[in-house]
Amino acid sequence: MISPGLHALQSSTVPMKIFFIFSLLLLPLLASCAEQKQVYIVYFGEHSGEKALHEIEDTHHSYLLSVKETEEEARASLLYSYKHSINGFAAVLTQDEASQLSELEEVVSVWASHPKKYSMHTTRSWEFVGIIEEEERHWTSNKMGGDFLSKARFGKDIIVGVLDSGVWPESKSFSDEGMGPIPKSWKGICQSGPGFNSSHCNRKLVGARYYLKGFEHYYGPLNASEDYRSPRDMDGHGTHTSSTVAGRLVPNASALGGFARGTASGGAPLAHLAIYKVCWAIPGQSKVDGNTCFEEDMFAAIDDAIGDGVDVLSISIGTSQPVNYTSDGISIGALHATKKNIVVACSAGNSGPAPATLSNPAPWVITVGASSLDRAFVSPVVLGNGIRLEGETVTPSKLEENNMYPLVYAADVINTGVPKDMAGQCLPGSLSPEKVKGKIVLCMRGSGMRVGKGMEVKRAGGVGFILGNSAANGIEIACDAHVLPATAVLYKDANRILEYINSTKHPIATIIPARTVLHTKPAPFMASFTSRGPNVMDPNILKPDITAPGLNILAAWSEADPPTKLNGIDLRVAQYNIYSGTSMSCPHVAAAAALLKAIHPNWSSAAIRSALMTTAEIRNNLDMPLNDESGDAATPFAYGSGHIRPTKAADPGLVYDASYRDYLLYMCSIGGVKDVDPKFKCPRSPPTATNLNYPSIAISKLKSAITIKRTVTNVGAGKSIYFFTSKPPLGISVKASPSMLFFDHVGQKKGFTITVKARKEMLSEHDEDEYVFGWYTWTDGLHTVRSPIAVSLA
Ligand SMILES: *[C@@H]1O[C@H](CO)[C@@H](O)[C@H](O)[C@H]1NC(C)=O
Ligand SMILES: *[C@@H]1O[C@H](CO)[C@@H](O)[C@H](O)[C@H]1NC(C)=O
Ligand SMILES: *[C@@H]1O[C@H](CO)[C@@H](O)[C@H](O)[C@H]1NC(C)=O
Ligand SMILES: *[C@@H]1O[C@H](CO)[C@@H](O)[C@H](O)[C@H]1NC(C)=O
Ligand SMILES: *[C@@H]1O[C@H](CO)[C@@H](O)[C@H](O)[C@H]1NC(C)=O
Ligand SMILES: *[C@@H]1O[C@H](CO)[C@@H](O)[C@H](O)[C@H]1NC(C)=O
Repeated sequence: MISPGLHALQSSTVPMKIFFIFSLLLLPLLASCAEQKQVYIVYFGEHSGEKALHEIEDTHHSYLLSVKETEEEARASLLYSYKHSINGFAAVLTQDEASQLSELEEVVSVWASHPKKYSMHTTRSWEFVGIIEEEERHWTSNKMGGDFLSKARFGKDIIVGVLDSGVWPESKSFSDEGMGPIPKSWKGICQSGPGFNSSHCNRKLVGARYYLKGFEHYYGPLNASEDYRSPRDMDGHGTHTSSTVAGRLVPNASALGGFARGTASGGAPLAHLAIYKVCWAIPGQSKVDGNTCFEEDMFAAIDDAIGDGVDVLSISIGTSQPVNYTSDGISIGALHATKKNIVVACSAGNSGPAPATLSNPAPWVITVGASSLDRAFVSPVVLGNGIRLEGETVTPSKLEENNMYPLVYAADVINTGVPKDMAGQCLPGSLSPEKVKGKIVLCMRGSGMRVGKGMEVKRAGGVGFILGNSAANGIEIACDAHVLPATAVLYKDANRILEYINSTKHPIATIIPARTVLHTKPAPFMASFTSRGPNVMDPNILKPDITAPGLNILAAWSEADPPTKLNGIDLRVAQYNIYSGTSMSCPHVAAAAALLKAIHPNWSSAAIRSALMTTAEIRNNLDMPLNDESGDAATPFAYGSGHIRPTKAADPGLVYDASYRDYLLYMCSIGGVKDVDPKFKCPRSPPTATNLNYPSIAISKLKSAITIKRTVTNVGAGKSIYFFTSKPPLGISVKASPSMLFFDHVGQKKGFTITVKARKEMLSEHDEDEYVFGWYTWTDGLHTVRSPIAVSLA
């Protein structure tokens, strides 16, 4: 993840490899078939609710029959018939058949499903480690407060659907001991298959299904040694995200030989979970690289989740590049879910720190960025000159206490013939056993797997290993469970170690075993990998919406996958694991939404998102603005409205509400409403996109001034007066009219306008595409309702 070196590897070598494999697969196919077939999604909008389920499938079948030669062919080509909310089907079609269908009046749109477009939003898996630390200080225990959790009854009666790689049902995190009954509204099922049957569902795991027709159409039959053809998780990711949403409190949990013990807990420990397995291992690829989730499979899962009766959906899946709302299965599925008032939380993606990299930018989902916790696994390096440098690791193995070891820099102990630019990287086979034996080796990040560098030191006979950040890694340290005693240090500290090595004939050092340190500062800070705005699909909507912990997060794990995902090399089994990515932050927000839903069952999904956003925190625990991993101030394009504060969100004072209709009016303005809901009649002049009643403001290419409309709903005290304040972006003025809002009952709505105006001199001198940021608030003395503002000038 975290290392731009690895990113470079990811974005250059890997796609080339994929492309190569691709061409090998496709060439014979292209040669033999005149008309290439692929999976298309044929979309009709929404069900009218008049037809029985079997009638719907018959209808879809008859459409297929109109383009296929035989009844049999039509039946065989149908992968899914979407029956609950989404009206449509997925089928194997030629391009010609697809275009014939798209010409039919009732058909809203037809699009080809793209293989390898979607994957789970974790960083690369060698980032991961397998331990449970001494005291898991879950964000919930500290930041939420017992009052809030008990008011939310720990999420009781709320059902959260998780689209991911399945679940490891035996984990103690999914025990249903002492849980309330399954909500009566639940209509889902427990699907069985290898390693999974109905007895694996319980009052915690109320449902579990799997979807792989799209996957199998593309890759052929699932290889049973690579994944379970059932809801069981062979990857770990789905177990991790679902236990982060709603794992039980597990006291004295331990892993890896009882190395450490502590309490693990999800955000809403009494909420129920519904598992939708949609992501699968890519055949023949290392688990470290490979997982994929097909659009037609996810579409079916979302449709079922709506029919099953989930309250919240957590989707840590997306693309690595932005995709139009109207040709994205997650976005369209989420719009259907939103209509049923299901809150949908999605990960922003791990394509940062570059700008304009966001995934899942639709305004009806909560788009979640990733930031750090205030926790570190401190394992210092002590040098022979007495200097002690902070390091971090979760490596279980330890050096002998009170013993110093010879210390070398990897570049000085290489085999002959290793290229100069790779020296210091500890790439496989690069170190000379003669020069390394019995020593601690300093290796730098840049290329190659982090865990692999430790393996190389071990192979060469080293006793310990220090992993140095490169300058680009900033203040973000990746915690790994290495295969030998090890720690990881910042770039500046790696340089101090180098200086020390240079300064003496016989450099020596030791590594002190890791211990968990809480309340580290500054925290939180933004993870470098978190995808950034602006939202290229529509710069009038500020994204991401919010940030939550996503760096070095501990949660339950699949026992079928080693903690480092290095199958066949790492033989450890971990019940809990530390993992990073916006995949990890998204379920935190889903959990917070579940708790809010438990407290405010009648709030719309927009109201819940608004409450989370307007109460979020933009300062860290040093009372300074949230930083990027570089130490510079981060912007709303990294954190949205700020870092999540669920306790505050329970009582936001005012909310910016929005309905399904508002989202369609928005689509009328930006284009594409006919591709999502053709029955909707756009007014002649729909409100502009900036006027969607969103809890944040983004203005792209401001000419001189713009006036924006918003409406707030009072959900706080009955009688109240709110005052406007703002911190305008540099060179911009921000005014509200009126600047005071009077409420006399709960539920009352008040409209206001915000006028954003550029100072004259700003209009002449600015960089193109440069954004400036600020915010405005409404305050009544008790509540502060804050909205970020992002502006670029024409
Ligand atoms: C489900 O599988 C377990 C083994 O994992 C077995 O003990 C149990 O009998 C099965 N239950 C049913 C209902 O098939
Ligand atoms: C299934 O996967 C295993 C392990 O990756 C591999 O050895 C085997 O060849 C695969 N089988 C097929 C039929 O591809
Ligand atoms: C925690 O579990 C270990 C065994 O895994 C046991 O020896 C120890 O007594 C337990 N501690 C508590 C406080 O329950
Ligand atoms: C250590 O010494 C080498 C040459 O002996 C030099 O190239 C390098 O810059 C020095 N490193 C530091 C951190 O002083
Ligand atoms: C929530 O809505 C339901 C019906 O829509 C209504 O019966 C109930 O009174 C409402 N509850 C609150 C607290 O407003
Ligand atoms: C997205 O697609 C719609 C049609 O569905 C089109 O009108 C719109 O311009 C597209 N937006 C972008 C940013 O490409």
